[in-house]
Amino acid sequence: MIERTLVLLKPDAVQRALVGEIVSRFERTGFKVVALKLCYASKETAGQHYADDQAWLKSVGEKTKKSYEAKGISVKDDALTIGNRIRQQLMDFISMSPIVAVVLEGHDVIGKVRIMCGDTAPNKSAPGTIRGDFAFDSYGLADTSGRPIQNLIHASDSVESAKREIAIWFKESEIHPYQRVDEALLYRKM
Ligand code: CDP
Ligand code: MG
Repeated sequence: MIERTLVLLKPDAVQRALVGEIVSRFERTGFKVVALKLCYASKETAGQHYADDQAWLKSVGEKTKKSYEAKGISVKDDALTIGNRIRQQLMDFISMSPIVAVVLEGHDVIGKVRIMCGDTAPNKSAPGTIRGDFAFDSYGLADTSGRPIQNLIHASDSVESAKREIAIWFKESEIHPYQRVDEALLYRKM
């Protein structure tokens, strides 16, 4: 199915001059850039993007708890409390310096881009993934530093979240459909 997904190259990606490298990976895979801009995220936009959504906040907290429990460290805060703390950190982090927002289009782009990003924690991300190749941050290092994990990139995780997130970052008039010359091959019918 042809889908669209939202990718954000977070402040760490822009500051480390990885924009070209990361966008290029998606282009070479066959995905089409249909919107792209360098921008500052306001606190308000950051808050919309990292929504005050109980299910997501819990899942974020659970990931942290699991990573500590795997090391035999028990965590007293519940998942929601941790999730809320991380949400505040993320809102500060994503609005601290420019980011690059991108809409990619292509066959099953949402799932494939997530695979290309790698695990949330770069220290657990496989080589060949964006987070695995260009970062090494971990839950532990991020927590002791009082900040969210610096993992370079955000990518939508479902059709619904892609739709919601694209509408936060782009007006319809900023999204530009066009034909790539290699589409004749990529989507060839026999
Ligand atoms: O980005 P991804 O979908 O892999 O992870 P998420 O669970 O949606 O969390 C969003 C972002 O929050 C992550 O990319 C991390 O930057 C940050 N995070 C964190 O700093 N610490 C956690 N325990 C979980 C998430
Ligand atoms: Mg996510």
